[in-house]
Amino acid sequence: MDLISVFDLSRVEIEAILNTAEGLRTERKEGKRTSNALEGKSLALIFEKPSTRTRVSFEVAMLELGGNVISLNRNELQLGRGERIRETAKVFSSYVDAVMIRAFQHSTIQEFARYASIPVINGLSDLEHPCQTLADLMTIKSYKNSLTGVKVAWIGDGNNVCNSLIGGCAITGMAISVACPRGYEPDAKIVKRAAELGCEVNITEDAKEAATDADVLSTDVWVSMGDEDETKSRKNAFKKYQINEDLIRDAKEDVIVMHCMPVHVGEEMTEEVINSNKAVIFEQAENRLHAQKALILTLLK
Ligand code: CP
Ligand code: NVA
Repeated sequence: MDLISVFDLSRVEIEAILNTAEGLRTERKEGKRTSNALEGKSLALIFEKPSTRTRVSFEVAMLELGGNVISLNRNELQLGRGERIRETAKVFSSYVDAVMIRAFQHSTIQEFARYASIPVINGLSDLEHPCQTLADLMTIKSYKNSLTGVKVAWIGDGNNVCNSLIGGCAITGMAISVACPRGYEPDAKIVKRAAELGCEVNITEDAKEAATDADVLSTDVWVSMGDEDETKSRKNAFKKYQINEDLIRDAKEDVIVMHCMPVHVGEEMTEEVINSNKAVIFEQAENRLHAQKALILTLLK
């Protein structure tokens, strides 16, 4: 089994992962950090782009589960000198038990998985970020007790993180409104797939409309990794798409504010909001560790 798209997981599988993750979070808070569940197992992490949370949370997850982890930059591998993905995938399959890849192109991860005989995890591509969604769902559930019926509002770029969150909402019974400028909408195929699951995906250019009565406000950077050439036009297009105190007033009183991080303070979120008691971004980042531990246990058991 792979996790390349959030749609690779069913509702039952997501619920099981979240339950395991919650148990692991409780145990860790009680001081039980390590187990030998993955003794003798190895996970490789391949990065084409920088990472703080994904790399550190996967490394610590493997170490605390008693397994081994190898983090590699693509350019350290022969991939960087033109070795094909298919041979690389076959070779990795004979050394390690699973591989996580952070890639510019979603198709790179799909191709790796096609030739690998081990589980392949998407650690972020241009299309999706399913590991982030698992942590996001865990965070929402811990604040709202249940996912069913929760109303999420996404403010800003309809990017990889947004796409996977839409899928996560659809699978778990949440509604989502996306406020974005024209031309920056989420992936049409993902929106269609969410609708087929009965999810209301409302897409609007009006941030206030999306935020109205929301239980969750979430956003991400205006300029994702790989979009740097468009920095000027994006900063211009997204000026009105900021989570600030004014926007929060349109949401429910007990709204939580989320961001996958890294945050560009003063762009998609104000300093005031980051420091407010509505922001749950550090729990969200911590939940990457617990959710990924549960995911690895699921894929490697
Ligand atoms: N949210 C997230 O994936 O962060 P990193 O880019 O630091 O891994
Ligand atoms: N959308 C951002 C997420 C970073 C975690 C990017 O792809 O750069």
